[in-house]
Amino acid sequence: MRKTIVAGNWKMNASKETVNTLILGILAGMDDVKSEVVVCAPFPYLSQVEALITHSQLKLGAQSLNINADGAFTGEVSAEMIKDFGAQYVIVGHSERRSLYGENSTLVAEKVKAALDNDLTPLFCVGETLEQREAGATEAVVSEQINAVIDLLGIDAFLGIVVAYEPVWAIGTGVTATPEQAQGVHAFIRQLLAGYDDGIADMTAILYGGSMNAGNANELIACEDIDGGLIGGASLKAEDFLQICRVG
Ligand code: 13P
Repeated sequence: MRKTIVAGNWKMNASKETVNTLILGILAGMDDVKSEVVVCAPFPYLSQVEALITHSQLKLGAQSLNINADGAFTGEVSAEMIKDFGAQYVIVGHSERRSLYGENSTLVAEKVKAALDNDLTPLFCVGETLEQREAGATEAVVSEQINAVIDLLGIDAFLGIVVAYEPVWAIGTGVTATPEQAQGVHAFIRQLLAGYDDGIADMTAILYGGSMNAGNANELIACEDIDGGLIGGASLKAEDFLQICRVG
């Protein structure tokens, strides 16, 4: 039985004041939450969140990492630094990193490796653009993104990876994939993994991301192969986020 995971990706939205309000609001409503709940904060706020969530069931994540351990990489943050602030998760391969910062599947696979080498769980994002979907290329795109990780690390790496299917056309647009569309790709991803190892495919959590909110989380997470959500906009308000967390 796979655990439901709900992760908030705050992206570049935070201030000391909003972080305080948001985390205290989430913590106040966690009693009846059974899912694993993660908040992925911008780097400058990791320390603040770490302090606020001590002794709670809330988990901390970062939004990216550099593949190097240390050195002359101005502006970058390593897996070790992220770990130093108590984070257990890190988002890798988000479509915004792929499209805005030129991260290709080879680099993303190396980032997955850097995370795993440092005992961080990568929230490994895959997904197609609208153009790619309309061209019938969804499965080819997702396969290429996943196979890059399998090529570098082997299928066993998925024992430590959480996959997030995030169709680019659904991110921040208010357009959500229908449960059928999302379930279809999630089942495809699981079959792809099963082609290498049935048991690992069965154990791998595959989250959906893309305009998931309190109104649609239920029917999405109810799908057989959807094991939770990676939430952008709706993770910035405690009550909205908690409603999604309570689904699992
Ligand atoms: P939205 O929920 O705002 O569409 O963002 C999804 C996302 O990109 C999560 O990583």
